[in-house]
Amino acid sequence: MKTTPEVNAARLLKSVADFAAIGATPAGGVNRQALSVEDRAARRLLAERALARGFAVLQDEAANLFIRREGRDAALAPLLIGSHLDSQPTGGRFDGALGTLTAFEALEALADAGIETDRAIEVVAFTNEEGSRFSPGCMGSMAFAGVANVADWRSARATDGALLSDELAATLNDLPKAEIRPVGHTISAFVELHIEQGPVLEREGVPIGIVTAVQGTKWLEVAFSGEAAHAGTTPLEFRKDPMAAAAAAIARIQGDVMPSDPDARLTVGRIAAEPGSINVIPGRVSFTVDIRHPDATILAAIERRVRDECQAAGERLGCKTVIEQRVDMPPGRFSPHVAQAIEDACAAQDIACRPMISGAFHDALFVNRIAPSAMIFVPCRNGVSHNEAEFVSDDHIIIGARALLGAVVKLSSG
Ligand code: GLV
Ligand code: MN
Ligand code: MN
Ligand code: MN
Repeated sequence: MKTTPEVNAARLLKSVADFAAIGATPAGGVNRQALSVEDRAARRLLAERALARGFAVLQDEAANLFIRREGRDAALAPLLIGSHLDSQPTGGRFDGALGTLTAFEALEALADAGIETDRAIEVVAFTNEEGSRFSPGCMGSMAFAGVANVADWRSARATDGALLSDELAATLNDLPKAEIRPVGHTISAFVELHIEQGPVLEREGVPIGIVTAVQGTKWLEVAFSGEAAHAGTTPLEFRKDPMAAAAAAIARIQGDVMPSDPDARLTVGRIAAEPGSINVIPGRVSFTVDIRHPDATILAAIERRVRDECQAAGERLGCKTVIEQRVDMPPGRFSPHVAQAIEDACAAQDIACRPMISGAFHDALFVNRIAPSAMIFVPCRNGVSHNEAEFVSDDHIIIGARALLGAVVKLSSG
């Protein structure tokens, strides 16, 4: 019997390819949005593989899927590892799936080596991390961490019209053999492997990032209401043009926030004009603002500045301004203990690593509120993600899996 668990590289790469085939898009990405038929097929495949290996399959009421390998001491809380299986509509094959599949590989490697860990280990695929089909994202991990209730979203409608409660029930019923457990059971710690979704690791030639913190995120929806009027006949002094207000406000915040602070991120990702006609001054213009910063105080100050600039632009141009907050995720600092376990695992295997802060939010941000957590990042080509062109090299997949497995061995002892 072997005593050191080893990642089976061929099996892991095949597994990544097998899951990429579920919801595959012609351009090489995946469309496997949360609770869709494709998402269910991916969960089914993971559950089948788990049962074939003799692992237990469980789901909670938020349809978070757990694969459990028992440990020696049933009194110890399980170690949780994993990520999500849902994708953006034109997503890549690695965002989420890589963290779930490397976690499952760690379980199989332990089983191959006949190693009994002190604690049970559970692999998780959290429900709806992306938030693209049903908003908000990170539903499964928010419910798991007690930040929100599944009941809060039951009447949410998908972009395709489906009702969340129907899709949740269909997903749960799709795995009739899986035991149902209450949302939010006790765990000892959580490790999530994920692609970096940014360019730093690739640029520096470092294969592993140890994520010590996640920056905070605020999403605002800004709406200016003015007066719809004829584009050709309405002189400037008669206009209440919400597009002029939006343009002025966006120019100010885009021109100000990021140039004055290299750690700040500000994105206007969606803008809508009503009625949206070439020769009508719009009656209403709305846009989204995504603001990120690692420091909660500075993040709040940027939000105030954005609000002030928008109010001022509205007043200057005779428009009513309404600003609503859609998301408020404070920055999170991960557990030094879990980060150290990852660093030790890298050192023991001569894997180069560096600490870093995550620019994106992840399920681990929420799980960290109830159990010590940290993340492992692997590089992706050109930093591209949320894109069908997303790419991670085989070498980086395998190195990531080895770092995760090493950390799992350390964290699963009692
Ligand atoms: C999550 O995908 C984010 O927007 O950070
Ligand atoms: Mn993800
Ligand atoms: Mn994503
Ligand atoms: Mn994400």
